[in-house]
Amino acid sequence: MITIARDTLKILEEAARDASRNAYAPYSNFPVGAALLAEDGEVYVGCNVENGSFGLTVCAERCAVHAAVSDGRGRGDLAALLVFVPGLTCHPPCGACRQVLSEFLLPETPVYSACDTGEIVVWTMDELLPDSFELPVPSVE
Ligand code: THU
Repeated sequence: MITIARDTLKILEEAARDASRNAYAPYSNFPVGAALLAEDGEVYVGCNVENGSFGLTVCAERCAVHAAVSDGRGRGDLAALLVFVPGLTCHPPCGACRQVLSEFLLPETPVYSACDTGEIVVWTMDELLPDSFELPVPSVE
């Protein structure tokens, strides 16, 4: 597994924790933050943004991916993701986020989860979503 320097991991943890403070989570009261590290050191953050029509809620991880893509990043530009969840258990990204992440993170890219205990758990993208769905892109002649 690719490992991230301890100092960089600390930066990601703080960025994700800070982003979780901006979460709009009045329905779940479960504020999540995510920090996505680009290969050149840039960090993109996201938080969950809930909606009274519950299905429209966007998770922190997808929010961070959208920020990175909006800034011109694509598959292969992203070195690691860290998600910060409140509480005493470090949760991995949800299933929907795993599918979205798999579009932009390489199989060997590390995905970290941090929580209030200070513990950090790590998986590779491939561990989180083996055999992910990829739409075959038609080749343009
Ligand atoms: N949530 C995330 O932001 N990321 C996940 O991976 C799982 C869940 C959010 C969605 C919702 O706003 C709240 O956490 C409770 O599910």
